[in-house]
Amino acid sequence: MAGIPHDHYEPKAAWEKGLARRLPIVGLMYDTLMIPTPKNLNWMWIWGIVLTFVLVLQIVTGIVLVMHYTPHVDHAFASVEHIMRNVNGGYMLRYLHSNGASLFFVAVYAHIFRGLYYGSYKAPREITWIIGMLIYLLMMGTAFMGYVLPWGQMSFWGATVITGLFGAIPFIGEALQTWLLGGPAVDNATLNRFFSLHYLLPFVILGLVVVHIWAFHTTGNNNPTGVEVRRTSKEEAEKDTLPFWPYFVIKDLFALAVIMAVFFAIVGFMPNYLGHPDNYIEANALATPAHIVPEWYFLPFYAILRAFTDEVWVVQFASFITGGIIDAKFFGVMAMFGAIAVMALAPWLDTSSVRSGRYRPMFKWWFALLVVDFFVLMWVGAMPAEEPFNTISLIASAYWFAYFLVILPLLGVIEKPLVQPETIEADFAAKKAKSGGGEAAATPAE
Ligand code: HEM
Repeated sequence: MAGIPHDHYEPKAAWEKGLARRLPIVGLMYDTLMIPTPKNLNWMWIWGIVLTFVLVLQIVTGIVLVMHYTPHVDHAFASVEHIMRNVNGGYMLRYLHSNGASLFFVAVYAHIFRGLYYGSYKAPREITWIIGMLIYLLMMGTAFMGYVLPWGQMSFWGATVITGLFGAIPFIGEALQTWLLGGPAVDNATLNRFFSLHYLLPFVILGLVVVHIWAFHTTGNNNPTGVEVRRTSKEEAEKDTLPFWPYFVIKDLFALAVIMAVFFAIVGFMPNYLGHPDNYIEANALATPAHIVPEWYFLPFYAILRAFTDEVWVVQFASFITGGIIDAKFFGVMAMFGAIAVMALAPWLDTSSVRSGRYRPMFKWWFALLVVDFFVLMWVGAMPAEEPFNTISLIASAYWFAYFLVILPLLGVIEKPLVQPETIEADFAAKKAKSGGGEAAATPAE
């Protein structure tokens, strides 16, 4: 598919022409900022900008925190207390960074579910989607390692449980776990490598974000109708789009301001609401906390990890046919990573010829159930591993897989989609008329 036709930067002054011949950076910036963007984008298209902003916020606050933090088991906990009590504005920096991680995940989940509803993952945006999934995996790794750094009880025991999962891999598990930890147990070597990687990965994410943006700038944005921008001529394309600057920049900044108001209210008035009180107790290898609970953003996948116990028949079956190589623990690990893998495969599992969920009457309901399922998994992931929570997490995990592996492929075949608008322009005009603006509404009634 050819790119959307639009005006490009024309250097005028002699120095502009000279610079463009040597380094076409102004042209690159112009094309990025003035990119034709579908004019019917709704508020669900703000999350990409929110994510970009939070990524920068995390890097900036993180770099300043590092100036006062000590990555050593004997000093890490005390150095965080020092940041909170002695460093000017230190408590603010730390709360911005820890709550910033939560905002990052709120935004990424909204962004992902937006993509799942409007079919943004479908051709030709598969690469944007896959890069997004890589970013998401790196975000999880970064957040997990960051949580270990304050060296509280949850840091230590969370790290012990999660790295223990690698030990469940048949044959190589134990060696892999020792290699990851830098020793037989979570200790100073672990803290040091986690610190190093926690500092490095956000920059890898930044690089991937550039590629992510490059990919969807090449295909053009999706939009709520899922209908592509017309590319036959510049005039046609201009009927469907508006330049990113100033229209969408202003809209995104407004959304960001509202979100920041809520974010600062949480950072200012309830900064520990999403944290766990046990992490204000220094790590102690001899005292296991009563409940080891991950951060809220890991809970849905943590629930899937725990759902597959020895009592589940698929686990027993897998164990039987592999002669015990696959046990419940390893099955859980595969299910947890598999839950993300099936989501990454959505572009190939969704067989529908229609992109947007708006015009898919059956899909809408199954998708709504997926959203509910995600919250049920989140809730059940925080509950103790006992009945009725075990059964609920098993049903909810099964639905997650069924949605991607059975429902998405089947719906494309059995569903009868609704009529889609011919063009983005038509959709935009219809919305405008309905809301009382535009020519149609301005025409006086006969
Ligand atoms: C640091 C994390 C991320 C950043 C900074 C980021 C940034 C962006 C931006 C700025 C956009 C365009 C505006 C918008 O649609 O909101 C976008 C679009 C998109 N993102 Fe992300 N993203 C991130 C993570 C993800 C993840 C985890 C996924 C899911 C796998 C994803 C999938 C997509 C898709 C499919 C689009 C295209 C939507 C369209 O064409 O309208 N992104 N991203």
